[in-house]
Amino acid sequence: MTSTYEPFVAPDTSESIVVYPGTFDPITMGHLDIIHRALNLFDKVIVSIAVNVSKKPLFSLEERLQMIKDSFPADEKRIEVDTVSGLLVDYAYTCGAKAIIRGLRAVSDFDYEFQLALMNRRIEREVETVFLMTGFRWIYISSSIIKEAAMHGGDVGGLVPDHVCDKLREKFMKT
Ligand code: COA
Repeated sequence: MTSTYEPFVAPDTSESIVVYPGTFDPITMGHLDIIHRALNLFDKVIVSIAVNVSKKPLFSLEERLQMIKDSFPADEKRIEVDTVSGLLVDYAYTCGAKAIIRGLRAVSDFDYEFQLALMNRRIEREVETVFLMTGFRWIYISSSIIKEAAMHGGDVGGLVPDHVCDKLREKFMKT
């Protein structure tokens, strides 16, 4: 019996690139942990802010972009920050990325991530999804819970970079 399965052979590219997508409203230590660990696996990480119409972000796209950029030394050449609208896999393919990276915090993340990864693979086979377990210290945080705590004057120091803490304080002082 002949098999119709033909294994996919990835093209040989000199630089391995991964796309790390998210809303990043705002970026947290959990996201940074994933980015730093992704740098151990790939040559370059493109942190891509996805324009998600179903979310009403607190921070504008420009503010989120700047907060991410300010989280790394200006001379860090292996991290790029960008925005993505439209299909993520198409974007990743165009960037020359071998993979999309996602953090998994708990079993509750799994269903959605599994669905997303399979749909993305169906659309574009050449881009894999790689999952990293979120660092234990960040397992319980999300951008929403941080915003909620900050809105009520809670101390979110240590859960987001200092400059993000300042931006949250500014934002909630105005409202
Ligand atoms: N540490 C801490 N928190 C984390 C985390 C980590 N490692 N990883 C995720 N989170 C949190 C985020 O803070 C966010 O919290 P919030 O909902 O309170 O803001 C939440 O988990 C969701 O994560 P996020 O990475 O922001 O995902 P998202 O659901 O907003 O976006 C996309 C998912 C961008 C990948 C998806 O919408 C997408 O691919 N969009 C493009 C269009 C497309 O191609 N769609 C798929 C078609 S099949």
